[in-house]
Amino acid sequence: MCGIVAYTGCHEAYPILIKGLKRLEYRGYDSAGVALSQPEGIALYKCRGRVEDLDTLCSSKNCEAHTGIGHTRWATHGEPSTQNAHPHLSEDGKLALIHNGIVENYLVLKKELVSRGYHFQSDTDTEVLVHLIQDTLKNEQVSLPEAVKIALSSVVGTYALAILSADEPDQLILAKKGSPLLIGVGDNEYFIGSDGAPIVEYTKKVVYLEDGDVAVVSPNKKMVVMNINDNRKKRRYLQELEMNLDQLEKGGFEHYMLKEIFEQPKAIRDSMRGRLNVRKDVVSLGGIIEYETKMMNARRFIIVACGTSWHAGTVGEYLFESLVRIPVEVEYASECRYRNPLIYEDDVVIAISQSGETADTIAAVELAKQKGATVIGICNVVGSTLARATHAGSYTHAGPEIGVASTKAFTAQVTVLTLMALCLARRKGTISLSDYHQIINSLEDIPAKVEQVLKLNGQIAEFAKFFVNKTNAIYLGRGINYPVALEGALKLKEISYIHAEGYPSAEMKHGPIALIDEEMPVVVLATEQETYEKTVSNIQEVIARKGKIISIVTKGDKLVKEMSDYCIEIPETLELLTPLISCVPLQLLAYHVAVLRGCNVDKPRNLAKSVSVE
Ligand code: F6R
Repeated sequence: MCGIVAYTGCHEAYPILIKGLKRLEYRGYDSAGVALSQPEGIALYKCRGRVEDLDTLCSSKNCEAHTGIGHTRWATHGEPSTQNAHPHLSEDGKLALIHNGIVENYLVLKKELVSRGYHFQSDTDTEVLVHLIQDTLKNEQVSLPEAVKIALSSVVGTYALAILSADEPDQLILAKKGSPLLIGVGDNEYFIGSDGAPIVEYTKKVVYLEDGDVAVVSPNKKMVVMNINDNRKKRRYLQELEMNLDQLEKGGFEHYMLKEIFEQPKAIRDSMRGRLNVRKDVVSLGGIIEYETKMMNARRFIIVACGTSWHAGTVGEYLFESLVRIPVEVEYASECRYRNPLIYEDDVVIAISQSGETADTIAAVELAKQKGATVIGICNVVGSTLARATHAGSYTHAGPEIGVASTKAFTAQVTVLTLMALCLARRKGTISLSDYHQIINSLEDIPAKVEQVLKLNGQIAEFAKFFVNKTNAIYLGRGINYPVALEGALKLKEISYIHAEGYPSAEMKHGPIALIDEEMPVVVLATEQETYEKTVSNIQEVIARKGKIISIVTKGDKLVKEMSDYCIEIPETLELLTPLISCVPLQLLAYHVAVLRGCNVDKPRNLAKSVSVE
């Protein structure tokens, strides 16, 4: 949600900024801008639209500079426009500022600043920050870093900031609270990013700023970090960035989303590596070892997450309840926070997030910690806010996910949840040895089975043609495949803009059946054995109303196949593991429908990858 990049050093800043913005564009793509330190002062270029538009605009400008800041925006306050694009300039034009986050008390601050003669050029909350800092500089007669600290102490909300000053042209001031900010340390130069993507090409040595930090960097000088909470200088240690450049490229695929769908066998294998050892009969997750006893004895698991991660959590509910036999509640993180939930000290909260930066999820984690619960994280981005906020946790090893629609993160999350459930069930004794063996053996085979499903890509691309002109779709699933139906519907709606809803198959007759006519595609997950006959009846009910059936069945299925207009056969596996396979054709279907409709698959409208505002 908004991408920040900045550079100071001996190289040309503009190419580093623009490349960084292209890599960060998945965080927001409404407008983009750069501010560059030049001998005459700060040069500011910004426009509505993509980073590519900014690059075109800049091609006719003087962009020579060794220090600069850049921003790609996901609009919160104020429509997407050039005026609202960052950077924002102070009244005297001497400060330029970029921001990711939300200034919650901006109206109060704005009123005060307007009364003191400041003129606002935009409708954003961000602009108050730059005027506030200039005002503090003027009134308090302090250095710029001091002024930033003082100004930020009256700000309510979240921020990652980079500030450029015409008076200190090679210096950058950075600040963080609630939104991520990393400083890459090069050879007498510094690379700043909202995440590692704009940094990894140049250095893997990074400092993760912590909440309340205000940092000052200039080439050839040591970084100085202070914290507004206690006004002391802080020592922040260098860490190794766990990211490779080739993970950020499309690798021959037309879109990141397709590449990431095809990376799922690897993502699942990598998430199992070192954790599942079928030969030695062991499932073990190093990250939670110290908390295993606590987890086994939990009164209840509460899974908090948003979007696709919430769907993975709902699969987790089925896995944990059936294997570990402890009650599970799955909560939308955004709902959890504001309804004063009952969370006890012997509850274990599992927070799931690909980015590890989702503001709602982090807020739920903080609340759970306040209530004394143990909080375990499942997260993809190493060193992210969630990873640092939880007591313990397990990373998914899916690699960077760039496509805004989450795919491989989902299967990796379900893999880790399966391993966690197996590990706890074994220790707790709630699973028989033979079931345990059967599940871990089947789990090991999953990546190869996903590879078989990926071979159906061509067939699914054909089926997608049927959806192109549709306006609605229903997805049905039962048991552990119900969350997969929700996920399939989410994928379709977010990238193809076709309205789609997921339901438990049997719920259709309680309302949604009214929607069915000859125009309505109904995607049915029909792999569930226990309820197979019931699903067959549901399919009949759709056919009787002339709805069109697109089914996902187990290879060899005859009955449902014959009843379907389109049928996708997936390899057989244990019921509990089917989500890892059955989600894949639904991802491919959504992808091909979106491509056929000419949608921007990797950057769907109105969305951003990392939703770091509540
Ligand atoms: C859907 C999607 C979103 C995210 C949600 C949570 O394809 O990407 O629904 O799943 O915003 O994000 P994370 O997992 O980063 O917390």
